[in-house]
Amino acid sequence: MALSIGSNKVKTAVFISGKGSNLNSLIKFSKLKKSPISIDIIISDNSKSKGLNYSKIFNIKKRIFNFKEKKVVERKILFELKKRKIDLICLAGFMKILSKSFIKNFNGTILNIHPSLLPKFKGLNTHERVLKKKEKYSGCSVHFVSAKLDSGKIILQKRVKISKNETTNTLAKKILIEEHKLYPKAIMKIFSP
Ligand code: GAR
Repeated sequence: MALSIGSNKVKTAVFISGKGSNLNSLIKFSKLKKSPISIDIIISDNSKSKGLNYSKIFNIKKRIFNFKEKKVVERKILFELKKRKIDLICLAGFMKILSKSFIKNFNGTILNIHPSLLPKFKGLNTHERVLKKKEKYSGCSVHFVSAKLDSGKIILQKRVKISKNETTNTLAKKILIEEHKLYPKAIMKIFSP
């Protein structure tokens, strides 16, 4: 695993599918002197993803890949990452599941952020399921990506309290604010000597 920083920042690709608010927070973090990462490419499976606008705003290369033929597209992505000497992938609201072979063949580290207190509520529609179960707390987790969905080693978590009149929207907003702080913190944690 390429977890040493040396004098250069770790070249990072951020994978997105939607709004990209985590991408925005990661880009801002990457520009700080103390940040161990630089963001070199944004990858999306969705050409309509609003987060792609950050490519223009921050002058970062973007690539859109159609996941219809997963095997083919994953090979293309691996080639692109290798070409750019990417050592870290940050999944940030990326809604496709990467294959075991992609994870194994990527010669670096893959991280993900998930809007629940893993191992609880893996998968989709997290907030809905949390509220239905009448949980008192939810939160977010940053973890290493392993071949099993949302199951790799947890790096950091942040808990938030669920209020009385919580809706999926209010909960998602509340957790997102924490996600924006947690992802950079988790990156600092894994790269700090
Ligand atoms: C975030 O809440 C992220 O944790 C979640 O999607 C949202 C993306 O927001 N990811 C997942 O549910 C992955 N299973 P963003 O596009 O504004 O960063």
